[in-house]
Amino acid sequence: MIWALHCLLLHMAQSLLLAPLLLISVLCKMQKAHQRVFRSMRHDIFQSTRCARFSPDGRFVATGSADTSIKLFEVAKIKQMMLPDARDGPVRPVIRTFYDHIQPINDLDFHPQNTVLISGAKDHTIKFFDFSKMTAKRAFRVIQDTHNVRSVSFHPSGDFLLAGTDHQIPHLYDVNTFQCYLSSNVPEIGVNGSINQAWSTQSISHLEGLIFHISQLTLRSLRKSISCIMQVRYSSTGGMYVTASKDGAVRLWDGVTANCVRSIVGAHGAAEVTGANFTKDQRFVLSCGKDSTVKLWEVGTGRLVKQYLGATHLQLRCQAVFNDTEEFVLSIDEPSNEIVIWDALTAEKVARWPSNHIGAPRWLEHSPIEAAFVSCGTDRSIRFWKEVL
Ligand SMILES: *[C@@H]1O[C@H](CO)[C@@H](O)[C@H](O)[C@H]1NC(C)=O
Ligand SMILES: *[C@@H]1O[C@H](CO)[C@@H](O)[C@H](O)[C@H]1NC(C)=O
Ligand SMILES: *[C@@H]1O[C@H](CO)[C@@H](O)[C@H](O)[C@H]1NC(C)=O
Repeated sequence: MIWALHCLLLHMAQSLLLAPLLLISVLCKMQKAHQRVFRSMRHDIFQSTRCARFSPDGRFVATGSADTSIKLFEVAKIKQMMLPDARDGPVRPVIRTFYDHIQPINDLDFHPQNTVLISGAKDHTIKFFDFSKMTAKRAFRVIQDTHNVRSVSFHPSGDFLLAGTDHQIPHLYDVNTFQCYLSSNVPEIGVNGSINQAWSTQSISHLEGLIFHISQLTLRSLRKSISCIMQVRYSSTGGMYVTASKDGAVRLWDGVTANCVRSIVGAHGAAEVTGANFTKDQRFVLSCGKDSTVKLWEVGTGRLVKQYLGATHLQLRCQAVFNDTEEFVLSIDEPSNEIVIWDALTAEKVARWPSNHIGAPRWLEHSPIEAAFVSCGTDRSIRFWKEVL
């Protein structure tokens, strides 16, 4: 297998007029013939990027930063810059920049059908941006949550969204009314992280039956957050969602009743679970934790089916991702500052690539449609990786 990858370094820079410019340098890892370097202005203005998300059609990638800015890149333009015969003129793959949060951005998601991007931030808000508008820099809608919003995920219909926060159960919002729904029985989370499931036998078929406004919730569950939700993701049909918890558990929830249907307690020992997502067929969940393991779980049984070992991630909130075909799993090895790739089926390590970031990157995100991914560094840069055929 020949892994020839171009790595495009997108350094954020700023002119004196505060108009965002890009300092771009293309680093060629394995094919010297394609090496090309773009340079621009100084690159030490923005803080590091904390998250990135591709649009469902793979045409855009958005990044969220510690400096509260959100940037939307057009993937075709990034790729254009990576061509060996690309012109050295001003290339601007960032087509939108949004500023509206007052604290760092934790996660982003694209509306499944519309030109809407949402962001969850430490400032307890979820903001909606319309990227069809050329000039709009601010959100057109805002959800005020009660907690640090660590993760956001749109229901495939686009009518609901989930927020994973410092509170122990996911907050489900109706996108049209902004009503917040929670399980009618707030689960108690035991000292070992297991949810008391007695309440979940109740079967409720309509979300309306679960109405609990967020303010009522905060009144009745002011326990110290022992199990923040680090990540929440809907399955491809919206029939389920998965949460990755700080208490080491991976939990599966029914998408209709909002009941917790399975708690995999200690999925990553006592270590924080930093990411969890479904496979396309919803049969498995891939999770990543600060115990330096990446694990594949069978949804139907909660059984551990694979472990991807050999990448150490103890410090940063990192996630493991499948490539577009789900044949490979990618994650980060912090000590060696490398991106590690496993064969998804055999769990064998097939490659390790130097990340080319200064210090280990904190986040990986794969394109849903092609062999391309981004890594977000703590060095104020993101890199766009693309397979060179
Ligand atoms: C927590 O785990 C310990 C050790 O596995 C066990 O002895 C204890 O009963 C558990 N406590 C609860 C409340 O489940
Ligand atoms: C989660 O997995 C689905 C496949 O089930 C994929 O399409 C999606 O891009 C993944 N989400 C993230 C944020 O990686
Ligand atoms: C994903 O899988 C495809 C198909 O085998 C492969 O060509 C591509 O290089 C893989 N991408 C990554 C980043 O692993």
